[in-house]
Amino acid sequence: MIKLSASILAADFTRLGDEIRILEKEKIPYIHIDVMDGHFVQNLSMGIPTVEGIRKITNLVLDVHLMISNPEVYIEKFAEAGADIINFHFEAADNPKKIIEQIRAAGKKCAVTINPDTPVEKIFGIIKYVDMVLVMSVHPGLGGQEFMVSSLERIKKIYNYIKKNSLNVDIEVDGGVGLHNIREIIEAGANVIVAGSAVFHSKDISADIKRFNEIFEEFDCG
Ligand code: DX5
Ligand code: ZN
Repeated sequence: MIKLSASILAADFTRLGDEIRILEKEKIPYIHIDVMDGHFVQNLSMGIPTVEGIRKITNLVLDVHLMISNPEVYIEKFAEAGADIINFHFEAADNPKKIIEQIRAAGKKCAVTINPDTPVEKIFGIIKYVDMVLVMSVHPGLGGQEFMVSSLERIKKIYNYIKKNSLNVDIEVDGGVGLHNIREIIEAGANVIVAGSAVFHSKDISADIKRFNEIFEEFDCG
């Protein structure tokens, strides 16, 4: 099943609760929360209190994307705050296998995230240990960037690896995704779709989410 993960980086923080109600009403399954530390990426964004606050007001799946150095220091804290899926960056991990074990020990779903400049083959050895691979289709750190078309080939390679090895691993794509390019992204093999601007900067959020869902259904049924 193809799922939308709405990235609240693009939401209006003065009315975040209302924005989340809309996601619930439109049955968006995942909320994507971008954590930036000003070190692994230049920007600062949200952190543990944000996850805690959102956890209090919704049962939607919290898909937490850690764009931080030393992720191993924070895994338990984000797990306690209420994250359901913890995405760490391959580039930030000295020992990815250990971080995966840490996330599992905390009882959470685990995703490895890969930057556009990192060869996809580098993560092949650990794909069998994770629930999801998050393919960055922009350089991390900023919302509203343009989708890097080279990501399609990267998604395909990961998809082929997963199929060849009969693994049950989702592929999430993050950055520059919208109604204009969603079909080719799904065709490449992604099934968890992060959308920030495409959801929260839309003139009619409900209508656009419905359009996303209609396209997902076409693929799910076809
Ligand atoms: C970028 C973030 C993304 C971002 C996507 O570093 O990881 O999740 O919010 O935003 P859009 O969908 O606007 O490109
Ligand atoms: Zn993200």
